[in-house]
Amino acid sequence: MKKVFVNGYGSIGSRITQFIADDRDIEVLGVGKYSPDEKVSDAISRGFHVYVPKAKVDAFKNYKISGTIEDALSKCDLVIDAAPGGVGYQNKKSYYEPKNVSAIFQGGEKIGGDESVASLIFNSRVNYEKAFGAKYVMQGSCNVTGMGRILQPLKEKYGKRLKRFDATLLRRWADLEDSKAQVKDSIEWTRRPHHNEDVKSYMGADTPLFIRAFKVPTRQMHVHLMDIRFDGPAPSSQEIIDLYKNEYGVATLYNVKGTKDIRDYAESIKFNFKDTNMIHIHADMTEVQDDIVKMTYSDDQTGIVVPENHLLMQAMLFNRKREDAFKHTEELFHMEEKKKLLQEHFAKK
Ligand SMILES: NC(=O)c1ccc[n+]([C@@H]2O[C@H](COP(=O)([O-])OP(=O)(O)OC[C@H]3O[C@@H](n4cnc5c(N)ncnc54)[C@H](OP(=O)(O)O)[C@@H]3O)[C@@H](O)[C@H]2O)c1
Repeated sequence: MKKVFVNGYGSIGSRITQFIADDRDIEVLGVGKYSPDEKVSDAISRGFHVYVPKAKVDAFKNYKISGTIEDALSKCDLVIDAAPGGVGYQNKKSYYEPKNVSAIFQGGEKIGGDESVASLIFNSRVNYEKAFGAKYVMQGSCNVTGMGRILQPLKEKYGKRLKRFDATLLRRWADLEDSKAQVKDSIEWTRRPHHNEDVKSYMGADTPLFIRAFKVPTRQMHVHLMDIRFDGPAPSSQEIIDLYKNEYGVATLYNVKGTKDIRDYAESIKFNFKDTNMIHIHADMTEVQDDIVKMTYSDDQTGIVVPENHLLMQAMLFNRKREDAFKHTEELFHMEEKKKLLQEHFAKK
């Protein structure tokens, strides 16, 4: 049985650990913690072994620690790095390369340039098989992941009829459980957001895409305003909506007032972590003008990348057939059921 270690137990690491712990094909060796706080007890109470940096062992003397991160890395087949953005690169240099261990990195890292963690950004809708046999792969960030689910079906159906994609990302300020981050009363912009290059890295460098990104004072998901320009008259909005009917991890919703409506519903129906794990096309905010489809969709920031990590793990560890991997991920995440419930609740009236 393959052994997987999750290095970092924050918003993303804790979710990944709790979902993949139910995967009978792997053993979760444990999680890496860096601060001696309540999340150590949380992990232990859920049955996970906690490993800490060798240099910090003393700071954890009040907890039942299972060993050092260095030890855990020597025993695992794959590490899922869930460190803060940029720290994954340092981990690669100081731990993963010297120990010759394969790793998945998260979307706050870079590909290309001096601090590149990998040459591939993974998107299960676009390049699943490319992760076969790879030593290091980066899982795209939440916005980068959601965008692949929108762009790839368009590309497959309309090909050369597509002229441009212009997207404005309204990004949530902080995550729900991130009590350390204050949500500032401001709208901030990002110069040259990483999303442009990240999406083009897997959709193709010649993808006619331009992204602007703004951070807005909310903890409730991201919203993408995507204008899709066609060569000639655009298809009807119904045709566009129908295109996503059977797409995995894409729900089509009506009558949603805002992102918190979706989060509240997810909480009421007891989805794990209040996550939907998907993107939500707001069908009644999707309109056509002449040659342009103007689409609005929301992206569950923390949830969306978690099943993607599970799919990527299967590609890297088992070279599993894409179809089988999706089936297996569905057993743990129940995305089809979540989609059905969401679509029934936010149905067209
Ligand atoms: N949050 C999101 O919505 C989201 C969505 C998609 C992708 N991502 C990406 O996922 C990654 C993790 O983000 P996050 O939101 O989960 O961050 P987070 O909540 O701040 O958690 C980061 C975790 O990393 C741990 N850590 C500290 N130093 C570390 C080290 N050297 N090696 C490994 N772990 C270390 C921290 O441990 P201690 O708490 O013990 O100090 C903490 O548990 C980032 O690349 C981010 O861009 C985040």
